[in-house]
Amino acid sequence: MNIILLGPPGAGKGTQAARLVENRGMVQLSTGDMLRAAVKAGTPVGLQAKAVMESGGLVSDEIVSGIIGEALDALKSDTGVIFDGYPRTEAQAHSLDELLASRHRKLHHVIELEVNEDALVERITGRFTCATCGEGYHDTFKQPKANGVCDKCGGKEFKRRADDNEETVRTRMAEYRAKTAPILPIYEARGIVSRVDGMADMGDVTEAISAILDA
Ligand code: AP5
Repeated sequence: MNIILLGPPGAGKGTQAARLVENRGMVQLSTGDMLRAAVKAGTPVGLQAKAVMESGGLVSDEIVSGIIGEALDALKSDTGVIFDGYPRTEAQAHSLDELLASRHRKLHHVIELEVNEDALVERITGRFTCATCGEGYHDTFKQPKANGVCDKCGGKEFKRRADDNEETVRTRMAEYRAKTAPILPIYEARGIVSRVDGMADMGDVTEAISAILDA
């Protein structure tokens, strides 16, 4: 099964994708994660993406569709994929159709996480991850059980994203409204869009997504 998780920055796409990976053995393809890895490694893609990401703008359609194509090629054909943060523009939506069709894959669900934008700034500016295993935490909503120690791997170093400041978050939200939300009608016309209350408790969001996938 191949699905898209759609929603503005901080809606919970990464959180829910990680749970689907753990519970269902699906693979998460997050263009944000792949671009951050490229920036860290100093690759040509990373060099092009760095300043755009720090400003909250969108990296070019060619770059992100290129990295998604390469990532799909590295997977077995029967591995279920969660697209997290891709597509983000109409051009990317069309590219995804071509990338899937040429690999004999189908898109089964587009799940939109509906959220109250006012709450997202708090969610994003409070977010941090384990520097060792990437487990996600939050200053208010999800602290490690033992202070300063990762629940999952015992790591003691944590990091915050360079673009998780209020000014950049507001730009990212404006980009979502202007360029990403308008792609929903493409999938609505195919009857594959479901909506989930992304303001609910994390576990309830996970259950709502599971119910859609199992229906
Ligand atoms: P990307 O990494 O994709 O960031 P984003 O879309 O802004 O999404 P986030 O990762 O910020 O949020 P999320 O929805 O995953 O939320 P999370 O689960 O972490 O993209 C970054 C940049 O890369 C872009 O700005 C762009 O420059 C570039 N880029 C990436 N893809 C691109 C593309 N396709 N085209 C062009 N450019 C691209 O949750 C947030 C926090 O809230 C966490 O702390 C979590 O614990 C907490 N939380 C989650 N759910 C709940 C809940 N239900 N209740 C309470 N707290 C919750």
